Amino acid sequence: MAQIVSLSKRRGFIFQSSEIYGGLNGCWDYGPLGVELLNNIKQAWWQSMTFRDDIEGLDASILMHPKVWEASGHVENFTDPMVDCKECKARFRADQIDESKCGSNAYKGRKASKCRDEGKFTEARQFNLMFKTFIGAVESEDAVVYLRPETAQGIFVNFNNVKDSTRQKLPFGIAQIGKAFRNEINTKNFLYRTREFEQMEMQYFVKQGIDTEKYEYWKQNRLNWWINYGIRKERLQFVPHPQSKLAHYAKDAVDIEFDFPFGWGEIEGIHNRSDFDLSQHVKFSGKKLEYYDDETKERYIPYVIETSAGASRGFMAFLCNAYDEDEAPTALGKVEKRTVLRFHPKLAPIKCAVFPLVNKDGLQEVSHGIKDDLQSSFNVFYDESGAVGRRYRRQDECGTPYCVTVDYDTLKDNTVTIRDRDSMKQERIHKDLIKKYILEKLF
Ligand code: GAP
Repeated sequence: MAQIVSLSKRRGFIFQSSEIYGGLNGCWDYGPLGVELLNNIKQAWWQSMTFRDDIEGLDASILMHPKVWEASGHVENFTDPMVDCKECKARFRADQIDESKCGSNAYKGRKASKCRDEGKFTEARQFNLMFKTFIGAVESEDAVVYLRPETAQGIFVNFNNVKDSTRQKLPFGIAQIGKAFRNEINTKNFLYRTREFEQMEMQYFVKQGIDTEKYEYWKQNRLNWWINYGIRKERLQFVPHPQSKLAHYAKDAVDIEFDFPFGWGEIEGIHNRSDFDLSQHVKFSGKKLEYYDDETKERYIPYVIETSAGASRGFMAFLCNAYDEDEAPTALGKVEKRTVLRFHPKLAPIKCAVFPLVNKDGLQEVSHGIKDDLQSSFNVFYDESGAVGRRYRRQDECGTPYCVTVDYDTLKDNTVTIRDRDSMKQERIHKDLIKKYILEKLF
């Protein structure tokens, strides 16, 4: 994990939020390569959801009417039990600590030493994870609004709007990508548990009775999505929630877990939410959220199958899955260790790098021409500094699947070498074929 965190900073994937002020716990910034990777993940998800007839897209606002969160159960139930160490004042989730020892580094001004307090914790108190703020100029109780802790509720409250404006028939889904905020008591493991993160959620509305069939369908569909974008099968597992531990809204639930360097962790949840959410919003808003079936003349509140993936956790899973170390030949006939990110080409932040072999005799001009042409179709990086071997190593660390080198033969016959990141094999192809060669691998 330490190597991945260090590579992320060195190559511009992830930076600490507000780093020059010492950082802000549980918040991270996506750097130039990070934002490309994140956008590619979100785009791959968005296409898989909305490039089909039965799913519509939505982008609801982050701030919503406070009654939404009463109806959803978040005001009452979205809590974690919290305890404080009486000695050093560090705060923990009561269900996640070894009760016998504090062991935190939270001594004020004595960061290096650990608290040796032997379990003198306060009684557990319930702590609501929603961030509160105020709408308008007056900071009073009636002006309280919450930063949404999940995107799902924006979909439920827009059920009628989407159904009526698109004339979709059941079953149909609504997909959304967006930020969510949780005031987690303990943030941990890099991007795994953060206070600000992004979700990719889809709610699929179905008639009660076919909910179990659709739940099974979405379980498989979502597992395949992660595999299709390169996550190795053996690093993924389903973990069903036992009936006794189901969330207040769920009839059935399963997590898709990824094998992170620190152990297995959830990256997506698939839930059968029954008609809980729509029924709650009917109760609290007084509005009807129903479906009328023209054929059977029935009117009912649909059940919901939810797929809820973390874009930020997914980012981390793709990063950990891609990280590899192997050996590469050097120009002197030796081998050296190389670090490589083996991203699926479609997710890779940069698709191709272009290098002139030397910086003279017109090779730079030809390389620039190739780069400009490729850049109209995908993200390209131009590099003329250092030995070609070094340039390859840098691109391997960025996860760039193809590198093109322009040399003296290019001036004679218009061919270039194209080098594959994973096999390190080089082929000679005509420069006019580079775009086609790469696009074929991307789609
Ligand atoms: N609408 C259902 C829902 O929000 P969840 O299991 O609480 O379900 C879904 O969250 C996904 O959101 C998780 O699988 C995870 O990928 C991501 N997620 C949840 N809390 C997170 C956090 N604090 N930091 C990063 N990602 C988080």
